[in-house]
Amino acid sequence: MRIFLAVWLFVVVATVSILGFRGDKSRSAPRWVFPDMDIQAKYLPQGQNEFFADERNDRPMVPGAVLRGYNSDIKEVFDGEYVFAKAENPALFTGLNESGKPVTEFPLEVTYDLVQLGQKKYTIFCQPCHGRVGDGMGITKKYGMSATPTYHDDGKRALSVGDIFNTITHGKGTMFPYGMKLNPQERWAVVAYVRALQLSQNATVNDVPTQYRKELGL
Ligand code: HEC
Repeated sequence: MRIFLAVWLFVVVATVSILGFRGDKSRSAPRWVFPDMDIQAKYLPQGQNEFFADERNDRPMVPGAVLRGYNSDIKEVFDGEYVFAKAENPALFTGLNESGKPVTEFPLEVTYDLVQLGQKKYTIFCQPCHGRVGDGMGITKKYGMSATPTYHDDGKRALSVGDIFNTITHGKGTMFPYGMKLNPQERWAVVAYVRALQLSQNATVNDVPTQYRKELGL
C-alpha cells in the first residue's frame, strides 16, 4: 500500500509539473531538451555584425550588379527590344488579354519546332505526374500523387490555352508552379504539346491526312 501511495504521489506530481504549467508565461529562457539545430552559427538577414565597419550582416550590392535568373530576366535588363516586345504582346508573358482573362488563342506562332520543344519540356517537367500521353498516369501516381487529372475529358479539353499557360505559370491545387523553371516561350511550347496530346487521344481516322492513312494501315 505504501509503495502504491508513493507511486501514485509521484505520478500526480510528475503529471502536474509536466502538464500543469503548459501555456504559462515566463521570462526565463526556455529549457531545450532537444536543441536540434535551433541555435546555429550563421548570419541572419539584417542582423548585427561587428566584422564590418557598418556593423551590418547585409552587404551593399556591388555597383553594376544585375538580376540573376532566367533568359527572360537577363534580356529584360539588357535588351531594349525585349522590353518593347513585352509592351507589344503582353499576352505572351502573362497569358491574359487586356481585360485580365486567359487568352483563347496562342500569342505566338505554333510551329513544329515549338511543339518539339514542348515535348522535351513536357517530358522533363510534366510527365512524372501527367503521364506520357497526358492520361494522369505518371510514375508519381504509384507513390500517392493520386490527384493528377487526365487531360482527356471534356472539362480539360475545354480549357483555353491561356488557362493552361496560367496553370503552368502559377500552379494549381497540389500542382507546383513552373513559372520559374520555364520561360514564357517554353511554357507556350508545353501548352502546344498538351494540345497535341489532347488531339492524339481524341482523334478519328478523318484527322489523319490521307497520304499517311495507307502507311498506317487505316
Ligand atoms: C507533381 C505532380 C505534377 C506535375 C509535375 C505537373 N502537374 Fe499538372 N496537375 C497536377 C495535379 C495534382 C493537378 C490537379 C490540380 C487541381 O485541380 O487541384 C494538375 C492539373 C493540371 C492541369 C489542369 C488544370 C485545370 O485548370 O483543371 C493542367 C492543364 C496541368 N496540370 C498541366 C501541367 C503541365 C503542363 C505540367 C508541366 C509543366 C504539369 N501539369 C506538371 C500535378 C502535376
